Amino acid sequence: MPPANRIDQNEFRMMRDYIEKSCGIHITEDKMYLVETRLTTLMVENGCSTFMQFYQKATADKTNGLRDKIVDAMTTNETLWFRDKSPFEILDSVLLDRYVAEIKSGKRSKVRIWSAASSTGQEPYSIAMVILDYIRRHPGLRSDQFDILATDISPSVLFLAMAGRYDNLAISRGMDDSLKSKYFTQNGKVWAVRDEVKNMVTFKKLNLQEPLAVVGKRDIVFCRNVLIYFADTFKRDILKRIAQLLRPDGFLFLGASESIINYTSDFQMQRYTRGLYYQAKASGAVYANTIR
Ligand SMILES: C[S@@+](CC[C@H](N)C(=O)[O-])C[C@H]1O[C@@H](n2cnc3c(N)ncnc32)[C@H](O)[C@@H]1O
Repeated sequence: MPPANRIDQNEFRMMRDYIEKSCGIHITEDKMYLVETRLTTLMVENGCSTFMQFYQKATADKTNGLRDKIVDAMTTNETLWFRDKSPFEILDSVLLDRYVAEIKSGKRSKVRIWSAASSTGQEPYSIAMVILDYIRRHPGLRSDQFDILATDISPSVLFLAMAGRYDNLAISRGMDDSLKSKYFTQNGKVWAVRDEVKNMVTFKKLNLQEPLAVVGKRDIVFCRNVLIYFADTFKRDILKRIAQLLRPDGFLFLGASESIINYTSDFQMQRYTRGLYYQAKASGAVYANTIR
C-alpha cells in the first residue's frame, strides 16, 4: 500500500480521465508522478487525505470550482516573448503586408487575430507590439484596425495576462531592450505593459473543447504549444474547428515542435526563411508571391 498522500494506479486512472474530460490534457501512464506532484497541495487544502476522496469531492462539486482549480494546476503555462521568433517575423514581413493592402483597397476594414492558448499574455502582447511597430512604419494605419483576441482555459494565467505586469525574470525572456523601453513602464522590479499595447488585446476564458462561436471569424490564429498536451482525436477536432473559423485563405501558426501532419488536410504548409506556417485551403488559392 502506498502512503495515503501517494496516488495509486486506480486513483491515477480516475484523475487522468477526469482531467482529460475537463480540459483535453492527455496524461500517459508514465506521468503518474505529474498528477501526484501537481495536485497534492490542492488535495490537502481541500481536506482530503487520499486521491480517491479528492476525486469524489471534485466530481460532486456542481459549481465546478474545484474542477477549475485542478485544471489550473495541471496546465503548463510556460511562455516567453516572441517565442520561436519566426511566427512574428512572418506576421511582420508577409501577412501584415497582405492584409494591409486589403485594408487600403477597401476590401476589408480589420485584421482579426486569435491567440488560442495565450497563457500569461506574452504571445498576444508580442503580436500587438509587432503590429504597433508596423503601424509606425506605415503611416495612415490605426491600431483599431487590428483586433487581437487572447483566450486560455486557466483563470490564474488570464488574471496575470490582463494585469500585464511582469517581473525581471519574465521580462528578460525574449524581450529586447529597445522594445522594453518603448512598450513598458518600469516601477522597481515590475514592468507594466503600456496601455497602447494592452488596449489592443481582449482576454477571455475559453476551453478549446467548447464551441468556438465566441471567437468569431479570424484571419490569423496562433494555436501554439498547446496541441502537444492533447490526445490525437482532440488535436484533429480542434484543427478542424480552427479551419472552419478561419476566413478563406486565413493562416495558422503552431509551436515549433507541433505539426498538422496526420491530423488534418485542411491546410497548406508554407515556409518563410526558417519558419513554417499553415494556410487554410478553403479557396484553394496559395499566395505564392508572398512566399520567399
Ligand atoms: C505552454 S502554454 C503556451 C502559451 C503560448 N501559446 C506560447 O506558445 O508561448 C499552454 C497554455 O494552454 C492552456 N490550455 C491548456 N489546455 C487548454 C484548453 N483545453 N483550452 C484552452 N487553453 C488550454 C494552458 O492554460 C496554458 O496557458
